[in-house]
Amino acid sequence: MKNQIPRISLKALTALVFTVFIFSQNLLAQDGAKIFKQNCAVCHYSHEDKMLTGPGLKGIFDRAPKGDWLKNWILNNEKMIKAGDPYANKIYAQYGKAAMTVFEGQLTDKDVDAVLAFLKAPLPPPPTTSTGGTTGTTGRDPVAQGGIDPLYLILGVIVILAILLGALRSVRTSLANAANRAEGVAENPETTFWQEAKNWMAGRRRLVGVFVIVLVFGGMKSCWDACYNIGVYYDYRTQKGYKPEQPIKFSHKLHAGDNEIACQYCHSSVEKSRHAGIPSVNICMNCHKGISTGPQYKEAEIAKIYEAAGFDPKTQTYDESKQNPLKWIKVHNLPDHVYFNHSQHVVVGKVECVTCHGDVKAMTVAEQKSPLTMKWCIECHRKTEVAMSGNAYYDRLHKALKEKYAGQYDVKFTVDKIGGLECAKCHY
Ligand code: HEC
Ligand code: HEC
Ligand code: HEC
Ligand code: HEC
Ligand code: HEC
Ligand code: HEC
Repeated sequence: MKNQIPRISLKALTALVFTVFIFSQNLLAQDGAKIFKQNCAVCHYSHEDKMLTGPGLKGIFDRAPKGDWLKNWILNNEKMIKAGDPYANKIYAQYGKAAMTVFEGQLTDKDVDAVLAFLKAPLPPPPTTSTGGTTGTTGRDPVAQGGIDPLYLILGVIVILAILLGALRSVRTSLANAANRAEGVAENPETTFWQEAKNWMAGRRRLVGVFVIVLVFGGMKSCWDACYNIGVYYDYRTQKGYKPEQPIKFSHKLHAGDNEIACQYCHSSVEKSRHAGIPSVNICMNCHKGISTGPQYKEAEIAKIYEAAGFDPKTQTYDESKQNPLKWIKVHNLPDHVYFNHSQHVVVGKVECVTCHGDVKAMTVAEQKSPLTMKWCIECHRKTEVAMSGNAYYDRLHKALKEKYAGQYDVKFTVDKIGGLECAKCHY
């Protein structure tokens, strides 16, 4: 009997080592998430195959050469292209010879390992704990919101395992006792249910051992899942303060500020549809056919407009075969399950661009100024009064309400009162 005890401890120990290993991989992935966000997210989606400046990295481990290829590429893609690496040259040509940043000197081997671990791990589901909209935090980035220190997670796991190990030992001991007793009192008609159960288990020690370990792992798994969601940010792109570098150094300050071009000139659908829209290169050409130099970058940046339009400033002609649409990087990204409508806010609600987008006229690089969280939408709906003047429907409603509650309440007619908090208004 006794010699069984060390054996099960060994199993538990293996479980411990294994779990800590999984955990450290997971923590590595979290580090990687941060590094990715800081260095790569401008050009790549991590878990989608959508194109930004660079290709989406979904499935990258299946298509890139195996071994150290990915690591070498990330550290110094230029070197690999120059050295004639076939896959490197293939993708370089495929993506229009767009240059990826060289990270040698900026990122260590360990950083790159972390990024790769992050790319390999599945993107965790959105944290369900933050759906209330009224609970706490504003930003979209739990990493920055300082989840739980990884060290505490590891300590927690070790404590839980220690307790389980203790429990396991006592089960062992009582199993042994039960087995001993069973030999003597096996035929006793007064055997309790527990004793019978113990007898049954005593005969199937291995099975019970495996079962306990499965239980332990089940517990670990759910604990792990819970922990996983605390620190990991699931949408690496949408966040306050996001201001990606754009393919052309387009400045709102110069255009909408200094030159006072109306927002609607370029974002022409903002009053008509849900999307504000990003101007096509033809809109730029309306003016830049004539304006070929700028105050800061002279010809360099405007030349990129010509290239995109297939325009030759010398002959003043267009060559359609050379057109190459500009790939602006989206600054604001609401998740697909959210419905947001510009015209409703700008025209009906009479909300100014500046309320949600900040002082765009002063931005040299477009930046996300609002968190775009559910909380943000809802807080505004709670406190903003519906703009009613000149809207017959609201005029009538408002009058009716005022009459009904005359002298009782100072009726504030905020967006939430017209259904601005109904889930289905914002979610498909
Ligand atoms: C300035 C933009 C830019 C940045 C920043 C950037 N990349 Fe890239 N990346 C590219 C482009 C463009 C390509 C396509 C190949 C080419 O044109 O050189 C690419 C290709 C890749 C590929 C190969 C893709 C494939 O389909 O085979 C990987 C892997 C990759 N990048 C990883 C990273 C990682 C990891 C980072 C951050 C450490 C990063 N990149 C940062 C632009 C970028
Ligand atoms: C001359 C054309 C032009 C004018 C005028 C203009 N914009 Fe833009 N806007 C652009 C272009 C091009 C982009 C995409 C590149 C970028 O993000 O900088 C853009 C991007 C934006 C974005 C970020 C879009 C995203 O990707 O999420 C916002 C917000 C924005 N503009 C608001 C405004 C506001 C508000 C005004 C008026 C004060 C304005 N724009 C005037 C051309 C213009
Ligand atoms: C309504 C006219 C108008 C439109 C439309 C317009 N621009 Fe301009 N753009 C200007 C003016 C004016 C200047 C400044 C020229 C100067 O001050 O010398 C300028 C300057 C620039 C510069 C030079 C910046 C520098 O500091 O060197 C760039 C780049 C530029 N625009 C990009 C764009 C892009 C991209 C679009 C299309 C999305 C666009 N513009 C649309 C009027 C326009
Ligand atoms: C009530 C807040 C709010 C107001 C007011 C508002 N926007 Fe937006 N804007 C947003 C949100 C939210 C997004 C992100 C939409 C998405 O990802 O689907 C956005 C996205 C954009 C974009 C990116 C392209 C697009 O259509 O998604 C542009 C450009 C833009 N806004 C311009 C404007 C301009 C110009 C005005 C004023 C005329 C304005 N916005 C007023 C909240 C607002
Ligand atoms: C700056 C304040 C403000 C913010 C931020 C804001 N809204 Fe609104 N929203 C309004 C106003 C004002 C109206 C009322 C328009 C009207 O009179 O119909 C409105 C109306 C709506 C409606 C229509 C409600 C109805 O009952 O018809 C929807 C849907 C909506 N908003 C979605 C959103 C979403 C999604 C976000 C966040 C991404 C958001 N709003 C952020 C001010 C805001
Ligand atoms: C005024 C608009 C608005 C209303 C009303 C609204 N939501 Fe949302 N909801 C959002 C926005 C915007 C997001 C995206 C937030 C983000 O990505 O951070 C979101 C995200 C979510 C998510 C995804 C969780 C997450 O963290 O991204 C769930 C689930 C959700 N909402 C449920 C609801 C339910 C249930 C209701 C009704 C009680 C509701 N929403 C009402 C705007 C709204």
